[in-house]
Amino acid sequence: MDFYDVIRTRRSIREYQEKPVEEDKLRRVLEAARLAPSAANRQPWRFVVIKTEKIKKEFYRVYNKRWFWHAPVVICACGVRKEAWRRPDGKSYLDVDVAIAMDHLILAATAEGLGTCWIGAFNPSEVKKILDLSDELEPIALTPLGYPAFSPHPTPRKPLEEIVRRI
Ligand SMILES: Cc1cc2nc3c(=O)[nH]c(=O)nc-3n(C[C@H](O)[C@H](O)[C@H](O)COP(=O)(O)O)c2cc1C
Repeated sequence: MDFYDVIRTRRSIREYQEKPVEEDKLRRVLEAARLAPSAANRQPWRFVVIKTEKIKKEFYRVYNKRWFWHAPVVICACGVRKEAWRRPDGKSYLDVDVAIAMDHLILAATAEGLGTCWIGAFNPSEVKKILDLSDELEPIALTPLGYPAFSPHPTPRKPLEEIVRRI
């Protein structure tokens, strides 16, 4: 798929088929995240791929929408704060770096015909508990991954004139 078609086609998918995700597709999607740029090339990210039914079921405590924990795969993107680059004024680029890697992953999934939905409204302490994350791993974003049950309509965007200022 052409790059711009990938960007136009991506939707937040909130209903998945039961069909499992092929291992080669999953690997390419994770590889896309691995290749993402990061501040000072610190790559302060880790990804947990969850396929185990028992763990997925427990994930209703993380985000209680059925389509989320019923998807064939759930991916948790974590950050390692001590690895992230800091600007001289102290600002950590952890969230920015992990978000870029996650967006690579999401766009690659679209190119593979797979659906995702960025989940930000999750319960971080439940994620840490269920995935047994070490103290240094901070869950930053989650997404289900699987074949979309249907393709939702596009959601509106602000016009360029509203969001761009040329000087
Ligand atoms: C940082 C971030 C957090 C989000 N959190 C959630 C969420 O918790 N639950 C949800 O259903 N969608 C979530 N979304 C998806 C947005 O609602 C969605 O991207 C937006 O409405 C535009 O729709 P589209 O992705 O289909 O283009 C999140 C998206 C982003 C980028």
